[in-house]
Amino acid sequence: MHAVAIVAAAGSGSRLGADRPKALVPLAGRPLVSWAVEGLLAAGVADVVVTVPAADRAAFAAVLPTEVRLLDGGASRTASVRAGLAAAGDADVVLIHDAARPLTPPGVVARVVAALAAGAPAVVPVLPVVDTTVVVDDGGVVTGSLPRATLRRVQTPQGFDRAALIAAYAALPDGTELTDDAAVVRAAGVRVHTVPGDERAAKITVPHDLVLAEAQVRR
Ligand code: CTP
Ligand code: MG
Repeated sequence: MHAVAIVAAAGSGSRLGADRPKALVPLAGRPLVSWAVEGLLAAGVADVVVTVPAADRAAFAAVLPTEVRLLDGGASRTASVRAGLAAAGDADVVLIHDAARPLTPPGVVARVVAALAAGAPAVVPVLPVVDTTVVVDDGGVVTGSLPRATLRRVQTPQGFDRAALIAAYAALPDGTELTDDAAVVRAAGVRVHTVPGDERAAKITVPHDLVLAEAQVRR
């Protein structure tokens, strides 16, 4: 089974507020994108495509292994993944990963790949929700609560049968922006399976997340 990984790394990281694109921000001295790519390679996924901000391509090339292919991303994550999919070639399965999840353990990648190999058309790593989760109105007043036992937090990499993913993106109306790829295939009627995620695969979104990741690397 030939797997290709597409790493979405073309975001600016506005919530992190660093002086460079988020994927180039250092974690223990190495850019987030380097950590993310190495996790994929360590899990045995050798074919890796990274979508980058067009203006920063040289900076990404300088920090990534030469066998990693770089492509210009787009203005949204959805557009960046679309750009990456054009390079999926004849792979059987596609993993879509976020550079913003630098410390994703190879075991998470392996679980996603194993579920695809077992025949799942779409697979996401998930974690339970530990906080009580409520719904609020425009004024911030609680109007309801969600049954926590049925909720999951979704991580990356997310894995897909290549043909199913490409068909789902082709069917997604232009301009529709979804925050993950499983939502795209679900909109096309594909069953999305789950495997256990890992707290260490947490996403770097705000500065505090970087503090936690630094602590994780040091321990
Ligand atoms: N991403 C991308 N292309 C974009 C926007 C996001 O490839 N136009 C990628 C980011 O690089 C990141 C992943 O999608 O690895 C998840 O997005 P997010 O955490 O929201 O990153 P940013 O969009 O960069 O951050 P922010 O929303 O705070 O600006
Ligand atoms: Mg974003």
